[in-house]
Amino acid sequence: MTVANEKPKILMVSAAFQGHINPMLKVANRLISNGFHVTFAITENCRDNILKNIPNSNSSSGLVLDFFSDGLSLDFDRSDVKTLIETLQEKGPINLSNLIKNHTKNQNFSCAIVTPFVPWAIDTVAQHEIPCAMLWIQASALYSIYYHYFKNNDIFPSLEDPNETVQLPGLPILEVRDLPTFILPSYPLHFKEVVENSFKDLEKVKWILGASFFEIEKEIVESMDSLTPIYPIGPLVSPFLLGEKDTNDLSLDMWNAEDSCIDWLDNRPNSSVIYISFGSIIVFSEKQMENIIIALKNSNKDFLWVFKPANNGGSEKEDSTLELLNEFKKESEGKGIVVKWCPQEKVLMHPAVACFISHCGWNSTLETVVAGVPVIGWPTWTDQPTNATLIENVFKNGVKVSYGEDGVASAEEIERCIWEVMDGPNASEIKQRAVEIKESARNALKEGGSSSNNFNKFIGDLLAKN
Ligand code: UDX
Repeated sequence: MTVANEKPKILMVSAAFQGHINPMLKVANRLISNGFHVTFAITENCRDNILKNIPNSNSSSGLVLDFFSDGLSLDFDRSDVKTLIETLQEKGPINLSNLIKNHTKNQNFSCAIVTPFVPWAIDTVAQHEIPCAMLWIQASALYSIYYHYFKNNDIFPSLEDPNETVQLPGLPILEVRDLPTFILPSYPLHFKEVVENSFKDLEKVKWILGASFFEIEKEIVESMDSLTPIYPIGPLVSPFLLGEKDTNDLSLDMWNAEDSCIDWLDNRPNSSVIYISFGSIIVFSEKQMENIIIALKNSNKDFLWVFKPANNGGSEKEDSTLELLNEFKKESEGKGIVVKWCPQEKVLMHPAVACFISHCGWNSTLETVVAGVPVIGWPTWTDQPTNATLIENVFKNGVKVSYGEDGVASAEEIERCIWEVMDGPNASEIKQRAVEIKESARNALKEGGSSSNNFNKFIGDLLAKN
């Protein structure tokens, strides 16, 4: 029941991963500025970290944060992803349901927005008679690949054979190694099952919103129109990245960003620094570290490196790389700095940054697109191999490193890629392309732009229903 004159209430549901929270929060911001009331429900394992890093300005933001248990004790080692997924699948519905009951004593939610990585939430909100939207937090290309894979598997060859290829509308011919790792036979089944579950329940989802934007994936988005359409409303990045200086943007960071790196960048020449980050989940292996170090030494470029120790939410228990890093830090004093977490959007917008060695998480990819910074893509898992392929072959704003079966690129290959985007004969073309897509990203969000129209249509639907 909705009480007259009350703001329509929206529920958002996500697991506590930085790469999932960030795009959801961008949507929350936009909903709040359109007069909605947003309750953001996140699994509670990162509650303390998140609350610790909330700036004071967030308190009056209009966003209500709430947390629900994933069913595991807070000190459980969540790098055991199989147990995490299975327990969340079992306990999540009960715990989210209780949270919903607490928030709907006077007024029900007008809509729930979930990520594809909490697929069980689709059913839970349906039981509470809340219409459901899914925010597809990855590229629309991934939506298309998964859709075809789960609903029309016949067009996929045997993925056991690494030499097989797949052809889908709007995408270059994809080799098996360009596909999302979750569908590969070599990958543990529980990852595939999570995504598969969200496709099983897709007919219960009323709106599929995309974090991407139409212009960058035009044909892919259009090819879904006759199946189950996706409506991109992105790029979901902060207003700061779009050039707005003073914003009341909300942020929920799991780690404290080291702002001192911006002072360091201030003292570097324009387009001179390589920014390196592999996002919030991946932890560098020793071999990866060694090869990046050699490549940086040989390239003789300045660098800003985000190095997240394993015990900082990463997936490796032993941090064998720290010693290596400490040694390199001493050797390279003056050439570069290493931080545990940085204000990435500010870094990408800094004129000193020349390129981004990235794992190609979708948030990082969109942020670098909007900042107009060329990419050296070194993907590791999930959607990242496809994103790196998009970067090199579709967006053409960067290059993808070649790597072996073990996922490790050689030092020479990393060095080649640095040369390619910074000094080689194609460097200026890559930079120009990065600037072009930056413009189209901004246009998509302007009044009358494709993403703005899709978002307004969604809001219109919500208000009409109310
Ligand atoms: C995860 C998956 O790994 C990724 O493949 C998927 O597309 C989204 O979910 P993650 O690995 O964390 O995400 O990468 P990414 O999507 O790039 O998100 C990382 C976020 O953390 C970005 O918004 C980035 O700005 C932020 N970040 C990263 C910081 O604020 N500071 C840092 O130092 C590093």
